[in-house]
Amino acid sequence: MRIVKSIVQKRQGFELQQNRAAILPLPSGEGRGEGQRVSNHSNGSSCPEWIELLPTLGAGLGYREPFKSELFRHQNAADFLEITADHFFDPTPEKERELELLSEHFTLIPHGLNLSLGSAEGLDDEYVGKFAELVERLNPPWWSEHVAFTRAGGVEIGHLAPLPFTHEAVDVLSENIAKARGIIGPNLILENITFNVLLPGAELSEAEFLREVLEQTDCGLLLDVTNLHINCVNHGWNSTEILGRLPLNRVVQLHFSGGHEPPHPPIAFLEGGVGGRVRSIDSHSQPAPEAVWTLLDEVLRRAAVKGVILERDDNLPPFAELRDEVARARKIGQIHHRWN
Ligand SMILES: [Fe+2]
Repeated sequence: MRIVKSIVQKRQGFELQQNRAAILPLPSGEGRGEGQRVSNHSNGSSCPEWIELLPTLGAGLGYREPFKSELFRHQNAADFLEITADHFFDPTPEKERELELLSEHFTLIPHGLNLSLGSAEGLDDEYVGKFAELVERLNPPWWSEHVAFTRAGGVEIGHLAPLPFTHEAVDVLSENIAKARGIIGPNLILENITFNVLLPGAELSEAEFLREVLEQTDCGLLLDVTNLHINCVNHGWNSTEILGRLPLNRVVQLHFSGGHEPPHPPIAFLEGGVGGRVRSIDSHSQPAPEAVWTLLDEVLRRAAVKGVILERDDNLPPFAELRDEVARARKIGQIHHRWN
C-alpha cells in the first residue's frame, strides 16, 4: 500500500501534507495529462487561491469496469480518470488490484454518490471514514460529491434527491460539508444535479442556491453541463442566463454525457407547482447532443476549467466512440487554452 501511494504521489507531483490542511501541487508537473495552466476564468470574480493552485488535468473518462481492457490498450484516450468512490470502499482483493493498477497509470479523482451532504440528520460517520481512507490512499488533487441528499430519517432512498432551495438547506449543507472536508480532505468540489420536482418554499433559484453554498463553504464547482442542459429543457430555463448567475470562478471540473427522451414522459412539477412533462432524463446512455457540446464550449471559454470528464453508464458503445468524445472535449479545451 505504501509503495503504491508513493508511486501515485510521485506521478501526480503532489506533496502529501502531514496535517492534511492543504494539498499543494509541486511547481513542475510530471504527471500524465498535466498541461500547463495557461489562462484564467473570465466572469469578473477572482478565483479562490486553492482552486487557482490545482493542477490542470485535461480530458478524461468516468471509469467503468466493462471498458477496463480497452482503456489499458488505449491509455492515451484519457488524461485522467474519475472513479466512483463507493465502488472502492471495503475493496475485495480483486478491487484492490484494480485500484492499484488504475492508480499506477492514471490520476484518479474519487467521486462520491452517497455522502448525502444535504441530510438534515448529518453524515454517516462510517461512510465518511471509508471515503477518507480512499482519499488518503490516492492523494487526489480534489474529490467530488453532489449537492443532494440520498438519506433521510435513516432511510436510504437510492437516488440523488434535490434539496429545497432555502437558506436553511444552505446551512445544513454548510455544516455537513465542513465536517466532510475536515475528515476526508479540504479540496471538495460540488456537482449540480437534475431534478423533476421543484420543491415548494424555495427562497432562491438553483443558480443562487449553488452560488450561496459554494461561497459559504469555499468549495469548487463540478459543473455537469448535461445536468444543466436537462434542467433547462425540462423546466424551460435559458442555459446562458443560468451560466451568467453561476460562480464560474469556482469551476474546477466538468461532466458531460447524453441523456434520453422518455417514450412515456413522467409528470414533472415545475416552478409554481405547475405540472409538466419530463422531456429529458439524465441517463448517461447516449452520446452528448450538440446542445451539450455548445454549453461545454461556452463554459470552457469562460471558466478556468482544470478537467473534463465524459460520463457513460448505460448502453456502452464501442470504446472508440468514447475516445472520440473525450478527444473532442480535449480539443475544445485546447482551443480555449485551458490545457496543451
Ligand atoms: Fe455528473
